[in-house]
Amino acid sequence: MDAPKLIAEQLLADPRVAEATRLLTQAVTEYASQLSAQAADPQRTEELRHLLNEYANLRGNSLFFPYLGSGAGRSALVELLDGSVKYDMITGIGVHAMGHANPELVAELIPAVLADTVMQGNLQQNVESLKLSRELVALAKHHGAKLDHCFLSSSGAMANENALKILFQHRLGSQRVLAFENAFAGRSMVLNQVTDRPKNRVGQPQTMAVDYVPFYDARSDVDSLHHSLRVLERHVERFPDSHCGFIMELVQGEGGYYGAPREFFVALCSLLRKHNIPIFFDEIQTFGRTLQPFAFQMLELDDYADVVTVGKMTQVCATLFGEKLNPKHGLLSQTFTSSTTAIVAARWILRKMKEGAFYGEEGRIAAIHARFATRFEKLHQKAPDKISGPWGVGGMIAFTPFNGSAEAAKNVLHRLYDAGVIAFVAGQNPARVRFLPPFLSLTDQEIDAACDIIDDVILSLEIQD
Ligand SMILES: Cc1ncc(COP(=O)(O)O)c(C=O)c1O
Repeated sequence: MDAPKLIAEQLLADPRVAEATRLLTQAVTEYASQLSAQAADPQRTEELRHLLNEYANLRGNSLFFPYLGSGAGRSALVELLDGSVKYDMITGIGVHAMGHANPELVAELIPAVLADTVMQGNLQQNVESLKLSRELVALAKHHGAKLDHCFLSSSGAMANENALKILFQHRLGSQRVLAFENAFAGRSMVLNQVTDRPKNRVGQPQTMAVDYVPFYDARSDVDSLHHSLRVLERHVERFPDSHCGFIMELVQGEGGYYGAPREFFVALCSLLRKHNIPIFFDEIQTFGRTLQPFAFQMLELDDYADVVTVGKMTQVCATLFGEKLNPKHGLLSQTFTSSTTAIVAARWILRKMKEGAFYGEEGRIAAIHARFATRFEKLHQKAPDKISGPWGVGGMIAFTPFNGSAEAAKNVLHRLYDAGVIAFVAGQNPARVRFLPPFLSLTDQEIDAACDIIDDVILSLEIQD
């Protein structure tokens, strides 16, 4: 005999909940359908300027863009407080992969809004945390990676911190970590050291010893591989048994959208295996966006995945690791796993990734990349001194504007913003303009409309020295 229904099950089965969900999604869809790209309303620009000034005072620093959202949007379109409606092609740096105000997701989130708690944490979680962990592990193991465990957390930096803690405990006595030059790993006290950006370390004490290995350089394919191997070998010889692991982005994100061929990673990973140094793939930016759900799956590096972190478009971040790395009780815990809505959204996103034809050479992500790339190539042919590229993989797309200086990229980004396309910078020397579009909802029309704006802005700008 079935157990009597729980109160939660009865609540969610109540016809009023279904009816309210139908009405709410209908309302969201109706209002969102009125949105189209448009310039700011002059009656509202002053008010937004005041709010931004107040916010800058409160934060102690101004925002990169004069962006305060109204809360409305539709797919790539987002409405701001000044009444402008822009194409969001950066999605909070890769977070809103499902697009703005996705009505299907709104319906999915109603049970999360009705749930008993806003936040879930290690002491008290609801069943959806378990289900999300189960689904992430299943996806990560799909092609044979030995990733048996999943620890949820609420930021990419925390997921990476947890990964490093696991690795240090596994390699007892180690004090150092290996990383790629030009890496980005987060902004905590430790990850500031791994992140290869002097600016981020100003005034910060050294909290960890990091040994850098040059990333792949496409301009000198074979030499680059040999050089990286030599540097890695030298670090390992100089500090025997001292490295907890090698943290790798398989496509460098913040560093400027640099990828590398499988052979490059295989050579490095084989050497690491020889020295028993664990391999840690940081997929916080790449997860979901390359031609397989994980970049390590696209590159067929499943055998080397000892620890993997995900974040951004997963809404909830996570550290995945194999049985042999399972840490002792007490090492990992935190008050917040994430919000109930984020956990439910994460599960919906994983489902969409699975159900839609997004992955593979013929998948939607490859098609989105090709559509942007074709437009950027055409623009390069028209104005070879104004744009070069494209770069990146799948749903990570970039071009280099003008001479690749930081000023040139910043200028283009602000001009694009004013004209109605939101993008962001990646890398230095060259600085690139990059796009992380909402690929789960993005239409070809949205790509074309954004690219028309990009064409106009680039062609209207003078060449700078
Ligand atoms: C590769 C990579 N690792 C870690 C992080 C840190 O994630 P978070 O900003 O959520 O702490 C980022 C963020 O951009 C990232 O791109």
